[in-house]
Amino acid sequence: MNDSSATATTRRAHVTGWGRYAPSQVLTNADLEKMVDTSDEWILSRTGIRERRVAAAHETTASMGAVAGLRAIRTAGIEPDDIDLILLATLTPDYWMPSTAALVKEAIGNTKATAFDVMAACSGFVYGFATAQAYIQAGLAKHVLVIGAELLTRFLDYTDRSTCILFGDGAGAVVLSASDEPGGALGIELTTEPQGAYMIWLPAGGSKAPPSAGTIARGEHFVRMEGKETYRFATKTMATTALESIRRSGLQPSDIDLFVPHQANVRIIEAVAKGLDLPMDKMFVNLDKYGNTSAASVPIALAEAVNEGRVKVGDNVTIVAFGAGFTSGAVTIEWTADPARGIAGDAAVRPEDVSVRLPVDWNSVDPIPEALAEVMRRPGSIDVPDDVAPGEPERVRREVHA
Ligand SMILES: CC(C)(COP(=O)(O)OP(=O)(O)OC[C@H]1O[C@@H](n2cnc3c(N)ncnc32)[C@H](O)[C@@H]1OP(=O)(O)O)[C@@H](O)C(=O)NCCC(=O)NCCS
Repeated sequence: MNDSSATATTRRAHVTGWGRYAPSQVLTNADLEKMVDTSDEWILSRTGIRERRVAAAHETTASMGAVAGLRAIRTAGIEPDDIDLILLATLTPDYWMPSTAALVKEAIGNTKATAFDVMAACSGFVYGFATAQAYIQAGLAKHVLVIGAELLTRFLDYTDRSTCILFGDGAGAVVLSASDEPGGALGIELTTEPQGAYMIWLPAGGSKAPPSAGTIARGEHFVRMEGKETYRFATKTMATTALESIRRSGLQPSDIDLFVPHQANVRIIEAVAKGLDLPMDKMFVNLDKYGNTSAASVPIALAEAVNEGRVKVGDNVTIVAFGAGFTSGAVTIEWTADPARGIAGDAAVRPEDVSVRLPVDWNSVDPIPEALAEVMRRPGSIDVPDDVAPGEPERVRREVHA
């Protein structure tokens, strides 16, 4: 690490900053009714989701992560160069390499941090949070930026009604800072159960099935999921993982003021509340607005919960997630930061002022899936983007938007 001021005596990791970013384009259940054989009633009653966000053509996982990350830095009242470790959790990176964290480092104007990606699917942010805490406890970092950012709408099969209705795009972030003061991150629990490896997966693009015309023709570059098996795993593991984190913190479930669970399905969250014998008003829910944003879901929810006044200094908050792998993770936090800081932090960073550098020979096509672009063009539906990927030749522009 580059910051010599992090010492062995500063061993607690406190959340000092938080921020979030959601693209402005909204994809409603009614929009999805035009794409697949589904209904608002089915989606709402089975999942609790009303709408989700869709990144515009010029946006990427890195650009959204950079906005959320900078907002968390502003909330913390520090400068980008005060960050000495950047961890970015995602399953939808901009590229296979370099890491999206490296792109974010440059975009936020940081020159010092070690930066790398964390891959634990929807549990990724909690894994990143736990890694940050370990660096801080080991005296290896003073300020860590942990980001969860996802652009899932480019990895969905918009003919598969069992998956395309669930997911959306966005980013959230926290700054964890070393301190001798009591509080901050307490007990952690992380699990990995590989028997669930093929319950949620994306078959092609890796070394087992490199991208080819065949993998694309078979739709193997899209997310696949066994919904029922995943549901069963989620309801059980979210409760047991949260419970273990709370126990390691020396607390009982009744000591927790707010749970911030992964926002996959409100029925899963209700089952967790029931399993822990807690009322639903202790569970923060915002999946109606964003759907499942995978690694971004917990940090977006945490930032929103704090900004909405659901958390005060001294509260115990448990973040808990599950995802492909199967993975799960939970961290219990004693909140110590002034909750009022987050709204100003978000307002201090405008997305249009943050940019991710492109390669010199960049020559992309419109990254928005055709079926989604079709719905987005319909009058009265979601916003039509007025541009496509930066650097795209005019010829492709006309083909896509004619
Ligand atoms: C996906 C999920 C909402 C499906 O709900 P479910 O109650 O299990 O529904 P089923 O899969 O049993 O499907 C019931 C019926 O609805 C149909 N269906 C599936 N998706 C549908 C949709 N979008 N609209 C309308 N009908 C749909 C099925 O084809 C099935 O029809 P059938 O009875 O004629 O065969 C639910 O299983 C779930 O949330 N699983 C966990 C997913 C998750 O959290 N993934 C992310 C992990 S990080």
